[in-house]
Amino acid sequence: QKEIISLAKITQFRSAVEEFSPFEWYRHHLEHDPISYNEETNSWNVFRYEDVKRVLSDYEYFSSVRARTTISVGADNEEGQHNSGRVDLSSDPPEHRKSRSLLSAAFTPRSLKLWEPRIHEVVSQLIRDMGDEPVIDIVKSFSSALPTIVIADLLGVPSEDRFLFKEWVDHLFLPLPADNVEDVQELKRQAAINYYNYLYPHVIAKRSQLTDDIISDLIQAEVDGERLTDDEIVRMTMFILGAGIETTSHLLSSTFYSFLYDNDQIYGEVQANRELLPNTVEEMLRYRFHMAKMDRTVKQDNNVLGVELKKGDVVVAWMSAANMDKEVFEDPFTLNIHRSNNKRHLTFGNGPHFCLGAPLARLEANIGLGLFMDQFERIEPVPGFKLEDHLTPSAAGQTLISLPVRVIRR
Ligand code: HEM
Repeated sequence: QKEIISLAKITQFRSAVEEFSPFEWYRHHLEHDPISYNEETNSWNVFRYEDVKRVLSDYEYFSSVRARTTISVGADNEEGQHNSGRVDLSSDPPEHRKSRSLLSAAFTPRSLKLWEPRIHEVVSQLIRDMGDEPVIDIVKSFSSALPTIVIADLLGVPSEDRFLFKEWVDHLFLPLPADNVEDVQELKRQAAINYYNYLYPHVIAKRSQLTDDIISDLIQAEVDGERLTDDEIVRMTMFILGAGIETTSHLLSSTFYSFLYDNDQIYGEVQANRELLPNTVEEMLRYRFHMAKMDRTVKQDNNVLGVELKKGDVVVAWMSAANMDKEVFEDPFTLNIHRSNNKRHLTFGNGPHFCLGAPLARLEANIGLGLFMDQFERIEPVPGFKLEDHLTPSAAGQTLISLPVRVIRR
């Protein structure tokens, strides 16, 4: 099991609210301390766009094979290891290519086309389920439900089981806190066992009944001329769940938060001109997807960032800070849905590990928000809303656990 580096020791945020909108912390580092050594965690932290991009993509110097990492994924028992010998995304090219191409078999443009109507259906149902309530909890009824159902659907497991595996996934990807580490690890171990026991029979059943879903794709995929085992498939799906649910849910919740509290003009503007929607989603990924960061381990002594890095050093690349670099984004701390280059954000990473699910996440956000706007003319904040009562730590940093929204139907 890898040693987990506590991010809290690096950021030292004073509150969950500060962590949810860490603009000042980014600004400070971008301007005064762009390559920063943190003694307590023995890690290097980089913030500027070009440096972050380099750390993410230059695998000759910065490796995804890690003994120490900031990412707390899975559990430390047999069931909770999401990598299995032959399939390991925490690797560098050329080994990485094999695992990646296996998984990407399930993420081709063709499969995306197949999923589009299914995503439509899921969103429409969620909106119907909102009935005629004047106030809805957008997290529960929309932003966390949508990616969970979509992934359940794509994996080919019954979507009514989604509450079960949403809970397991929440536990599996919990960040390790500064204290009570054992408690959280126990939660993770239990979640891993439950998830494993749940999915294993599904994989076996699908072997004799292949359909149009990711598990069936993985059953048919080959590594070096060999098929994946049931065990390997279960582990890979665990990774897909972790990568695909919390992230997209965080994006959608944060987008609604932004519509209500960062700039209350945007919803109406996009409502009136839907062509603005794709660029709005990109700006949300740039501006409101906080705590996007990824670590690498230095592969050989080097000075490519202008400081002496030693083999084995851990470097954390802060993508959400890089997204605020004024060298790339004009007036970076302003939310501007008309920004022409915001697709250059690094929220999906860069280089050989660039997010395989990015097209799916974009599709979910665009279809989801578009259909939502078809139904709801306006949205308004609910009086008395206190952000601090609605946040919870997650793999994506502080995220909304609920967000009440007053909706005005057409
Ligand atoms: C990789 C972010 C949604 C599947 C990544 C990486 C980032 C990222 C930053 C790069 C990791 C690295 O450099 O080591 C996001 C964000 C999402 C999102 C911000 C939503 C807003 C999804 C979805 C899926 C997915 C929906 C699939 C259903 C993957 C996979 C990888 C990955 C399989 C590993 C690729 C590799 O290592 O080669 N994601 N992701 N992601 N993501 Fe996503």
